Amino acid sequence: MKTYSPETPFDDYSPPVARVLSCIQPTGAVHLGNYLGALQQWVNGQHQNDVFHGIVDLHAFTVTESPGVLGQNTLELAAMLFAVGLDPNVATVFVQSHVVEHTTLSWMMECTVSFGELSRMTQFKDKSQKREAEFVSAGLFTYPALQAADILLYDADEVPVGDDQKQHIEITRDIAMRFNHRFGETFVLPKAVTPALGARVMDLQEPTNKMSKSTTNESGCIYLLDDPASIMKKFKRAVTDSDNEVSYDRDAKPGIANLLDILSAATGQKPQELASSYSQYGALKVDAGEAVCAMMSPIQQRYTELMNDRAELQRLLRVGAEKARVVASATVDRAKNAVGFLPE
Ligand code: TYM
Repeated sequence: MKTYSPETPFDDYSPPVARVLSCIQPTGAVHLGNYLGALQQWVNGQHQNDVFHGIVDLHAFTVTESPGVLGQNTLELAAMLFAVGLDPNVATVFVQSHVVEHTTLSWMMECTVSFGELSRMTQFKDKSQKREAEFVSAGLFTYPALQAADILLYDADEVPVGDDQKQHIEITRDIAMRFNHRFGETFVLPKAVTPALGARVMDLQEPTNKMSKSTTNESGCIYLLDDPASIMKKFKRAVTDSDNEVSYDRDAKPGIANLLDILSAATGQKPQELASSYSQYGALKVDAGEAVCAMMSPIQQRYTELMNDRAELQRLLRVGAEKARVVASATVDRAKNAVGFLPE
């Protein structure tokens, strides 16, 4: 596969199969939902596609109020992305704020999306409600415009995400269509790609809510850096129901369905088939926990090694930003020309 290198610049380079873009926020430890819903797909897709993955610190800034945290979280997340298996020789991994084109295009997107469309975004409603007693920034409201810029800048055909991001990809398509209609064909219309297994990992304590960094009960969320004893403890305490009959039914038995989904994502076996091989909840909890521990162990080892060489991590991110800028600046130029801004 041809990839970008100084000898084969992007000018003479056509994407091999699909251009893929997806991003993650540096807002704290990465959890099992992030891994099964998104990161695993990113790693699996990197050799077939031309992939760009951003650590979106500007998005995290919408809820950042203390100094010094964002940079550290960004570096740790970079280590995690390489630890889960993104290969810097094939995947372009970059930090959003290092590629200034994100903010330029974001403004153009803000002017192409309506107040009404932004008001209908469920993530804004959820997040602003959760922060009722706190500061709700305007950035939290206009967040989808920045996300649209992230995607459209890279001419992404596919955006591998968990279920919760589908609405953001839909609004990106709407914005792109509106811009193309107003100013002429400029942007590629992206589509969301969700994994067959693990697109919606639920909280172990509240299995009707998705697993999330902002959980109120830490034992509902499995972090990739949790040690095996805590992982097992969290699985053993997972909320289920009282009839002790293992069957796969997301509505009637959300806790058990979630455990089966997780075990299924870790083993590749179908959740319905797994259900028939268990007669008790206890054994299912132990097997799900052990499967997750086995999956996390090599990741944790690589993470520790990578965090020991911060200079190398920063070098890799500089290389990623350089590659990202080549594509992003061409798109911004194209968009500005389409609108007809006066050239410098
Ligand atoms: P973020 O940082 O919350 O999550 C990163 C990825 O993890 C997925 N995910 C889940 N998947 C399954 N089950 C869960 N419980 C779960 N929780 C999180 C998310 O779907 C996501 O794919 N707005 C985005 C970041 C973003 C972005 C982008 C994504 C900014 N620009 C451009 C794609 C393309 C977010 O907050 O993801």
